[in-house]
Amino acid sequence: MHRPDSAASRLGELDLPSVIGHRGAAGVAPENTLGGLRRASALGCRWVEFDVRLTADRELILFHDDRLERTTDSCGNVGALPSSAIRCCDAGAWFDASFAGERVPTLAEAIELLSELGLGANVELKSQRGNAIQTGMAAADLLARLWPQHLPRPLISSFSPDTLEAARYRAPTMARGLLLRGAGGRWRRAEALGCATVNADHRFLRPAVVAQIRNAGYSVLAYTVNEPARARELFAWGVCSVFSDVPHMILAQMPPGLPQSNATPPPLLAGSARREALM
Ligand code: G3P
Ligand code: MG
Repeated sequence: MHRPDSAASRLGELDLPSVIGHRGAAGVAPENTLGGLRRASALGCRWVEFDVRLTADRELILFHDDRLERTTDSCGNVGALPSSAIRCCDAGAWFDASFAGERVPTLAEAIELLSELGLGANVELKSQRGNAIQTGMAAADLLARLWPQHLPRPLISSFSPDTLEAARYRAPTMARGLLLRGAGGRWRRAEALGCATVNADHRFLRPAVVAQIRNAGYSVLAYTVNEPARARELFAWGVCSVFSDVPHMILAQMPPGLPQSNATPPPLLAGSARREALM
């Protein structure tokens, strides 16, 4: 079997927990806000995932969509607006009146809060309109400069290979995860991109695919898992961590004996799953 000098071993171990709050804790607080990060921490998360993108004036902010409409009280294309315009928006009232006044945070503000809360993070980089390389470089530079030493090492992820390459260029030792929408064989790009993890949509995962990826030396992370029974199934297949909008519900029904922290890379599987992976 070809066993690559995997990024997991090259980059050192990631201290990944079994459950990662998705966009903070998007089921119970407005996504990608400081209030959401606080809520995730209060619900027992050790790590959160959030989305980061560039504004027109090259500020890195926490935001999922290309446009403002769904999660703010304003409208417009995030990549075409200056950060001053975006930071005026209310990013909490759309979710619940109790969150009115939440702002769109900068990545620097989020890191400061993570430091205070002791939260680890998967920083997902979203790119648009030809800014994939700029996004990867700017985020890697900022994380290298500001990431607190006392936190677990961060994981950068992206659907964009260009963004991952750019991040690698600027911060070669920072751990990267390849995000996939489907499954198939696209996870194999993780090797060329020097990724430590493969982050896949759980709906496309099957036991054999999980085994193949693990046997190639990568941890498998699955998004977005909001049903405890599905999380237990994925863990039984060898998935390392699940991203959840309702992390407290998954944490409350974790299978007995599952560690809160999953070192990478995971052990090889035995039996038929391994035989299939070796083929
Ligand atoms: O990083 C996992 C997940 O967040 C990827 O999809 O659209 O929720 O950012 P999305
Ligand atoms: Mg995301």
